[in-house]
Amino acid sequence: MDKIVIQGGAQLSGEVNVSGAKNSALPLMFATLLCEGRHTLRNVPQLKDIDSTATLLEHLGCKVARIDGRTVSIDVPARVLSNAPYEIVRKMRASVLCLGPLLARYGEAQASLPGGCAIGTRPIDQHLDGFKNLGAEVELTEGIVNVRAKSLVGSRIVFDGVTVGGTENVLMASVYASGETIIENAAKEPEIVDLADFLNKMGARIIGAGTSIIRVQGVTKLYPAEHTVIPDRIEASTLIIAGAISKGHVVVKNCVPDHFDALTSKLKECGFKIQSDNQTVEIQALKEWRSSDITTAPFPGFATDCQAQFMALMTQAIGTSVISETIFENRFMHVPELSRLGADITPRSRVAIVRGTPGKLKGAPVMATDLRASASLVLAGLCASGETTVNRIYHLDRGYEKLEEKLAALGARIKRLQ
Ligand code: UD1
Repeated sequence: MDKIVIQGGAQLSGEVNVSGAKNSALPLMFATLLCEGRHTLRNVPQLKDIDSTATLLEHLGCKVARIDGRTVSIDVPARVLSNAPYEIVRKMRASVLCLGPLLARYGEAQASLPGGCAIGTRPIDQHLDGFKNLGAEVELTEGIVNVRAKSLVGSRIVFDGVTVGGTENVLMASVYASGETIIENAAKEPEIVDLADFLNKMGARIIGAGTSIIRVQGVTKLYPAEHTVIPDRIEASTLIIAGAISKGHVVVKNCVPDHFDALTSKLKECGFKIQSDNQTVEIQALKEWRSSDITTAPFPGFATDCQAQFMALMTQAIGTSVISETIFENRFMHVPELSRLGADITPRSRVAIVRGTPGKLKGAPVMATDLRASASLVLAGLCASGETTVNRIYHLDRGYEKLEEKLAALGARIKRLQ
């Protein structure tokens, strides 16, 4: 199993490019199921989760090809299968995003239930309630969810809580529904806007994406489209924190700074000097920084996907930081691993108290437990004295494109061992 070995202490410097957003590329790939023909997606990152999605689309009958490193073509036939098997869904929860488009196009879809995952139970009840509102019947038998509808009818859907995947699935399900669908308490994440942009290019009629009320006028036909995936705001945030924690000077390019304002405002509160234009963020070295508290929240709040990385940074701050996780119930699994490196953190249910002690981390073997936790361990390894070995980095490969190569190019002493 691959691992990453880091010799801590190198100050990062230079420019680094951000890849396309995993969390945008995945729903876009599923959205292609909505109509027959060849779709082209550009700026698609090379990641395990993208490969799993391609495997699922191919299982359903599509042809997926990387035309060049970042461009993917997806040929969708007139008729595809309508079931997502457990073997694929268990590797990647986002597989349930095939339900919405398959239901919309064929009036039926089946997927194995994704079950729990490391960061929490993550049910899909709100996706299913949304489908029911559009007129679908939902049946759960032996771990498989079946959705079926003779025809879908536009409706008012009010989500109980903000759900990114639920908003995406219901949005895709509603594009052919007759009349108007109104999705209230919708997620406002940039990935929702990207999906709506792509669907509109295909011929859908969606307005309001990026706000909490999305309106969809049903159409009868969609066409294949070309689209460029937005930059990955979580990768950009991780690279900025890498510059900060290594006391370096890093320019992060090809990103949309507005997508991670919540992080940059917190970094400014800590004392970091940050400059940005509409595509670039520059973070400059500081010898020391202050602690700051964060509470994760749906966009535009502080991203839960960046909580672990920010916690790594706070282990090196002057002062105590209170980190509150409101999105997932079990998202502090990086805490025991950061503690192995010498961090002083007390986790209490959904709050972690981080007592920053600059320069205290010492390299050790640690275990990655989920995608973003893995990134936080790599970040901690950058500033720990001596050698840190991050084991089980297949989690990292699900969502970061060649992170170790990008960090090495900035001067980190980091390598992958196979
Ligand atoms: C997406 C992101 C993930 C990110 C998360 C929150 C993708 C592929 N993944 O995950 O990286 O951490 O948004 O920003 O885009 N919930 C329910 N019932 C539902 C759906 C969700 O109770 O039917 C709960 C979840 O358990 C969680 C919260 O709502 O506590 C938010 O989940 P959601 O926004 O749906 O996350 P995902 O779409 O799974």
